[in-house]
Amino acid sequence: MSESSMRILGLTGSLRTGSYNMGLLRAAQELAPAGIEIEIADIRGVPPYNEDLNHDGGPDAVRHLKAQAHAAHALLFAVPEYNYSMTGVQKNLVDWLSRPVEGSPLRHKPVALMGAGARFGTVRAQLALRQVFLFTESYAMIKPELMIPNAPEHFDSDGRLIDEALRQRVRAIVEALAQWARQVSLR
Ligand SMILES: Cc1cc2nc3c(=O)[nH]c(=O)nc-3n(C[C@H](O)[C@H](O)[C@H](O)COP(=O)(O)O)c2cc1C
Repeated sequence: MSESSMRILGLTGSLRTGSYNMGLLRAAQELAPAGIEIEIADIRGVPPYNEDLNHDGGPDAVRHLKAQAHAAHALLFAVPEYNYSMTGVQKNLVDWLSRPVEGSPLRHKPVALMGAGARFGTVRAQLALRQVFLFTESYAMIKPELMIPNAPEHFDSDGRLIDEALRQRVRAIVEALAQWARQVSLR
């Protein structure tokens, strides 16, 4: 895989306007070096998982999401924390993407995690999501990690990451994920 072809799909677990985690994905998009393209999934139309709807690729929004995930060389998850775990929204995305197991875009897919929380949030959520990636057989990048506490100090009122040192760490995650994808890709 050449560097010029690297495509990464960003997936957040927050629907909130002004979400810090969406801010992280936007920062990743802005900071991605030449040759790495980051697309951010629009997850607003994805319904709660329902096995009854999971035929012929699922509802339109799900089919679109799956196509984006298949087309991406790697996935970048921005991981908010609710009640010591990932949000229901994030788990719901994973559940849709995980089925059917044969042909799931999560299977053998290089993935990375990053996240921000109002206080300590994201640490436990990222650990919980890493556990899920065992079942989906996704190749979760181990390091570097990015867990940003006290997010209100580092983002402006529009949800833009303004801390320069953290912006460089976001860029480092993107570069590391691209490298990881090259190392583990079976394609
Ligand atoms: C239902 C709910 C549960 C939460 N649980 C936690 C938690 O367990 N730990 C924590 O540090 N923050 C928790 N928070 C705070 C969120 O992590 C915080 O609002 C964060 O900014 C959400 O991410 P976002 O900015 O991307 O929307 C919770 C918020 C909500 C609404």
